[in-house]
Amino acid sequence: MSERYVFESPAAAARACGGYVLERLAHAVAARGRAALAISGGSSPRPMFEAWAKSGFDWSRVDIYWVDERGVPPEDPQSNYRFARETFLGPAGVPEECIHRIEAELPPEEAARRYRDAVARVERFDVIHLGMGPDAHTASLFPGEPLIRDRADSVAAVYVEKFSQWRITLLPAKILAAGTLVVLAAGADKTGALHQVLEGAEDPVAFPAQILRHAAGEVAWFLDAAAAAQISSAAD
Ligand code: 6PG
Repeated sequence: MSERYVFESPAAAARACGGYVLERLAHAVAARGRAALAISGGSSPRPMFEAWAKSGFDWSRVDIYWVDERGVPPEDPQSNYRFARETFLGPAGVPEECIHRIEAELPPEEAARRYRDAVARVERFDVIHLGMGPDAHTASLFPGEPLIRDRADSVAAVYVEKFSQWRITLLPAKILAAGTLVVLAAGADKTGALHQVLEGAEDPVAFPAQILRHAAGEVAWFLDAAAAAQISSAAD
């Protein structure tokens, strides 16, 4: 089941996405005592992370993982971990034992092995936050990546040609099994990709975010009007 929520600005979409995630996490904690969340990087999440930092939410019951990480040290400006640490984890006082970063500064295959062992402790993520690039990539699954078709493994090291960079990423099986997937996508540069992902012919290797059509749980798209300009408002 997929829902689309459209907002006037990228920040409004991000804040709404953040509120939706907190509701789902609170539900999971009420049901099981704890919740597992995986977050993405990029620039769109900033207003969401900043809202979480000020929310007063009890993060001690939430295990926080990453969808993907660039092959850089944790203090590098490109690091998704550093971005989350500065905008959310630090200001919110998230306990260290709840933070499960990807050690992407290690050699790629070792980093992937260690993270695979870490996420093996998560039977199913309650919530996974994804972004989508203008090329319809999500996580670090970029167009042409053969692992987009993989449904056996949970984590891989992928070499991203367009950035000449190794990355560690969750693979579709782990992503699609989540209880709730939220996708935050905003900006006019994503209009064409979003149309292809939500309404185009199925071709996930060309449009990786199309894998979300096969999610086990709910998929909630948080969009701004610019990104949503070429899609119908109907949920599918
Ligand atoms: C990353 C992210 C990536 C991101 C998209 C969208 O490591 O960059 O995990 O998948 O979500 O590239 O990024 P923006 O939100 O900056 O558009």
